[in-house]
Amino acid sequence: MTKLLVIDDEQSILETLRMFFEEKGLKVLTAETGARGMEQFTKENPQVVILDIRLPDINGLDILQTMIHTGRPVKIIMITAFQDMETTIVAMKTGAFDYIHKPLDIDQVEQAVDRAARIIEIDRKTPSLTSCNDPFAPVKIIGKSEKMRHVFKMMGLVCDRHVNVLLQGATGTGKELTARVIHMNSFCKNEPFIVFDCSSVVDTIIESELFGHEKGAFTSADQTARGKIELAGNGTLFLDEISQLPLKIQGKLLGFLQRKEYTRVGGTRVLKSNCRIVAASNQDLSELVDKGLFKQDLYYRLKVFTIHLPPLEERLSDIPFLVAHFLNKINRELGTTVTKIQDGVMERLRQHTWKGNVRELENTIVQALVGCRGNVLLKDDIDRILNQYRSEPVQGLESFTLAHVEKNHITRTLSQLGWNKSRAARLLQITLPTLRSKIKRYNIRPM
Ligand SMILES: Nc1ncnc2c1ncn2[C@@H]1O[C@H](COP(=O)(O)OP(=O)(O)OP(=O)(O)O)[C@@H](O)[C@H]1O
Ligand SMILES: [Mg+2]
Repeated sequence: MTKLLVIDDEQSILETLRMFFEEKGLKVLTAETGARGMEQFTKENPQVVILDIRLPDINGLDILQTMIHTGRPVKIIMITAFQDMETTIVAMKTGAFDYIHKPLDIDQVEQAVDRAARIIEIDRKTPSLTSCNDPFAPVKIIGKSEKMRHVFKMMGLVCDRHVNVLLQGATGTGKELTARVIHMNSFCKNEPFIVFDCSSVVDTIIESELFGHEKGAFTSADQTARGKIELAGNGTLFLDEISQLPLKIQGKLLGFLQRKEYTRVGGTRVLKSNCRIVAASNQDLSELVDKGLFKQDLYYRLKVFTIHLPPLEERLSDIPFLVAHFLNKINRELGTTVTKIQDGVMERLRQHTWKGNVRELENTIVQALVGCRGNVLLKDDIDRILNQYRSEPVQGLESFTLAHVEKNHITRTLSQLGWNKSRAARLLQITLPTLRSKIKRYNIRPM
């Protein structure tokens, strides 16, 4: 039987709630002061507490904090006559389960208590998937599926060989992660790992970012600057979204790959670098070669050792392992303690179409954990997050205008990619400035 403790100095509220919840079969305890409430709490160990903020003797927020600090799995619903923002934020931060304003709407209280009782019951029934005191997780690629085992084999083959590596895979499949792990397991693991995103820099400065420039090479070059190739030294240079590299720079990069020599922009001195190149692309480079958008010779140089990262939908069996991994990781980052998942969650996750792949899965878990009040990841929460763009009401024919469809598509893409605009622009195959102007025009904001 659920035990409910109500702490409020208004006798009428105590009576109303007692009658209401006793009728529903709960055991109800009441207290008119904070001190009496704490006494009951210690002695009776209720699962749910309804707690008024303004009490004659102690501030309700202090009681909340004391109760949370006992570490008991209690759900505390705060009530108050004040509608102010600060107390609500403080209460939720401290760990309140819910927050309800007076005058009390009994339906609202009932819903909150029901939900609390339901979560306690699910928590009791669900075994822990992970422990939440794992202090740090190494950079790890998770996967036990056939396809991921193949990826690991390829990585093992190439780690210690000084050859270039090409990583092909859709957005969010783990290309950057794979590049890091290759580096960490390579002959050059104690040398730098330098990232260069070929799509994030405007064409005019890509060359000097990559190869560096001499003082006076152009108007704003008031000092000599080292490029990424130089910074990588004997380590790894990760060239992200290599397909976005302008053709002219592709030529210069090819020259470097052939001779391991290059010059800074505006310079004549020949410099050497022995860095290993790991390049990544979410577009099929061979198709771009056919279209004349990517240099064939460079492609041949890069593709010598290609690793294809499979999309999540081709390895659904990895989802449980990924979820356990992300729970661990996110609990540590957010200070949450979610170690269990409700029955049905995995099934729901398997049914979703993961356009943003592992990144979208990770973002979904982050969103769910931020809203979670307890130890269990609930199916309702996952449903709400995964359905958030499907449930838009159709208001009539105007909902089907091209602009409306475009706005929805952009919103969904941004959300799936954790609001990473350059990735979203790539996936939508529009330029970053175009994406920015559309975000502004449609007034799209993170939800
Ligand atoms: N197999 C995996 N195991 C654990 N975490 C993963 C795995 N794959 C991806 N991730 C995580 O998902 C997120 C996205 O991965 P990453 O940035 O490597 O993707 P990407 O392929 O480079 O995507 P994009 O093309 O959009 O740049 C990261 O937080 C990464 O740590
Ligand atoms: Mg990437």
